[in-house]
Amino acid sequence: MIERTLSIIKPDAVAKNAVGEILAAFEAGGLVVVAAKMIHMTREQAEGFYEVHKERPFFGSLCDFMSEGPVLVSVLEGDNAIARHRELLGATNPEEAAEGTVRQRFGTNIERNATHGSDAPETARFEIGYFFNSLELHSR
Ligand code: RTP
Ligand code: MG
Repeated sequence: MIERTLSIIKPDAVAKNAVGEILAAFEAGGLVVVAAKMIHMTREQAEGFYEVHKERPFFGSLCDFMSEGPVLVSVLEGDNAIARHRELLGATNPEEAAEGTVRQRFGTNIERNATHGSDAPETARFEIGYFFNSLELHSR
């Protein structure tokens, strides 16, 4: 099934100048970029994005991190894109991520893990709509 998923190259990976290598990994993995832009989230915008995690102990630190510098947000399309993207990212903790995955290659620790990927169709819809309007999405 053709799906769309929301991808974020987080501030740590942007600071490492790894945007191109990470997008290349997504394209090599069969995903197509249908929208992309660089933004610098305010603390409030990061809190809104991570609303589902607001009771988690790491929420405050995560929102500080996600608003510390620019990120590259994109929408990726492809067969089974949500699961495929998460496979390419690897485990949340880079130390546990499989060899060759984006988090293993570019992540630093469980928080500064280089990338975000939607985890289900409903969250993908919410997350895509959080950053992009319909005119910014390009079917290809
Ligand atoms: P993501 O949402 O970013 O794709 O990552 P995920 O599903 O693998 O992980 P999730 O449980 O949704 O956590 C969201 C982000 O919070 C940070 N985190 N920190 N300190 C910690 O124990 C901890 N656990 C998670 C990570 O940046 C994670 O990607
Ligand atoms: Mg998640």
